[in-house]
Amino acid sequence: MKFNKALAMSLFSLFITSQANAFTVGVAMPTQDEGRWYNEGFGVEHMLQNSGFNVELFFGGDIDVELQQRQVERLSNSNIDALVIGSIDGNALTQVLKITKSKKIPVISYDRLITGTDAVTYYATFDNGKVGQIQGQFLIDKLKPTVEHPKNIEIFHGSLDDNNAVFFYGEAMKILQPYIDSGALVVKSGQIKPEDTEIHGWRTDLASKRMDDLIDKIGYGPDGEKLDGILSPADCISTGIIFTLKKRGYTTDNIPVITGQDSTKEALQNIQEGYQAMTIFKDGKELQKAVVEMIKAISEGKEAPVNDTTTYNNGVMDMKSFLCKPELIDNSNIGKLL
Ligand code: BGC
Repeated sequence: MKFNKALAMSLFSLFITSQANAFTVGVAMPTQDEGRWYNEGFGVEHMLQNSGFNVELFFGGDIDVELQQRQVERLSNSNIDALVIGSIDGNALTQVLKITKSKKIPVISYDRLITGTDAVTYYATFDNGKVGQIQGQFLIDKLKPTVEHPKNIEIFHGSLDDNNAVFFYGEAMKILQPYIDSGALVVKSGQIKPEDTEIHGWRTDLASKRMDDLIDKIGYGPDGEKLDGILSPADCISTGIIFTLKKRGYTTDNIPVITGQDSTKEALQNIQEGYQAMTIFKDGKELQKAVVEMIKAISEGKEAPVNDTTTYNNGVMDMKSFLCKPELIDNSNIGKLL
């Protein structure tokens, strides 16, 4: 009797494992070179594996759009049952996803929206508009700009091929623009539009370079023109800006108020040391949980839980989305991440 029960148990668990193991998820992440994506690539892999799924994980090298296209094509032509994609260029997968769609492979757009295709089944992301609002409001709260006492700021925009960047900037600017219009905030460079402020590929080195150029052009400096704040959409950009500012003589006594997002290792250190004013914590585990729930539902032929169907449209359809909450981190609450 005892033996039979044990046998039944192990047969049952074998059945469960082989059932789940039969389902393979392809995961394509943008790059392993940026902290956020490295952590999240392996995070998704582990969480899916812990739920019994097979995973094929790829990273898009040095944010290499063509490499990611080839990876998605390869995954679509292999024996996968679902695909999770953190895109590099949200617009560059339209062609290759035709293959995916023809093979009836469901696609989850991870964090960044894949646009211009009807091949996307679900979108799992953070409330990206909220990220921009938190950043914009933070600058206002810290700088307290008024027409009588105007403050100088500069603006950095994320990569234009990333729909998230448009949301971060759009919502932050809804808060900042009225102050710019009234003269309470001044952008001395005159560079405000997305195409004038873009850091393509979210590259730290390009952010450093643009900050250098702004200093040369305007004469910002600890002993020169005062720069009070910088709207930076993400830590990878803030890190580049801070690198330049330090090199050009700024210290924690005169560094502008700089925003960020992702709570990268560098940003947390910069916040502790007083170089960066804030970042945003986006709990990768929450996002990964949402993805695992989607994959579970797909593997069982059910509808996945979503909490938003109106915010995101990818140019072809409204997205069934799950939005996780972003959280402001500054030196008052950084302790919870250390
Ligand atoms: C993500 C941000 C990240 C940025 C650069 C965006 O799509 O939402 O969290 O900082 O890409 O990788």
